[in-house]
Amino acid sequence: MNMVTLATTLQKKKEKTELILRNIFNLPPVPKAIKEALDLLSSPKTNNFQLSHVISTDQGLVTKILTIANSPLYGLQRKVTTIDFAILVLGYHELKNIISVLSIVESFKNKTDQYLDQKEFWLHSFITGTASRRLAEDLDFPNEGEAFITGFLHDMGISVIHRFMHSSFIEIHNLVNGSGINYQEAELEVLGMTHQQIGYYLFEKWNFPDQVCDVILNHHNPEKSANNKMLTSIIHLADYMTQKLEKGKSYWDKDIQLNLTELSNLRIRNQEEADKFIIGYEELFNNQVEAVRYLN
Ligand SMILES: [Fe+2]
Ligand SMILES: [Fe+2]
Repeated sequence: MNMVTLATTLQKKKEKTELILRNIFNLPPVPKAIKEALDLLSSPKTNNFQLSHVISTDQGLVTKILTIANSPLYGLQRKVTTIDFAILVLGYHELKNIISVLSIVESFKNKTDQYLDQKEFWLHSFITGTASRRLAEDLDFPNEGEAFITGFLHDMGISVIHRFMHSSFIEIHNLVNGSGINYQEAELEVLGMTHQQIGYYLFEKWNFPDQVCDVILNHHNPEKSANNKMLTSIIHLADYMTQKLEKGKSYWDKDIQLNLTELSNLRIRNQEEADKFIIGYEELFNNQVEAVRYLN
């Protein structure tokens, strides 16, 4: 195939994928308790009692909020054992970040099959999100909440392919395993788009802040981010750390390369410094995985 035909084929595949994405423009229904909690968190008249009551009707939501609040990478000083206490220590703003992220992840969740284990995928999102928040704090990035949200949602494109383009998901999977090309190349080959572009497409349509969309688009190539190099580098590093430390890693990221040039934004200058930096988080990552072992 010559270059022109190749570009046209890619464009055609991209258009087909975008058509599917346009049809899922409206988010799938959000679980009831999550929706009610988000409504309450947006209303100035809400009190802690109402909020706690609504959240408590969904035991899965309670467990997940407590797990996040108690995550060692999240870094709260005191153990959070009840929703009432979680509301107090996290505050409405942080709680809204957590519940928004959970609502998106939950509403896109598909059933586990041999191609994607939902628990593993959740763990990858969760660890990347909490680690990004911690890195933001440690590296003096001013908006930790944004780091958490973006880290948690960085790979949503993968979840969307699994749920809404399942046969393409299998095709990509088989292509990687059969021909040895990497996931990025296989995604382009099958869908004309990468999972980063798919995530970007949807979050843009849902009017997420520009920084969040930009980071989702560039999390594998932080050098391409125009205005958010530091946040993109933080998510990129957190994502890489899950591979390097082998905690909460996603097999879809197995070929991920650490971009050292951009890490200078984080005051890390070479591979040796990066390795040393990452090892410093090993124990935290271990504790983190231990803390969510029983979550489903
Ligand atoms: Fe990714
Ligand atoms: Fe990832």
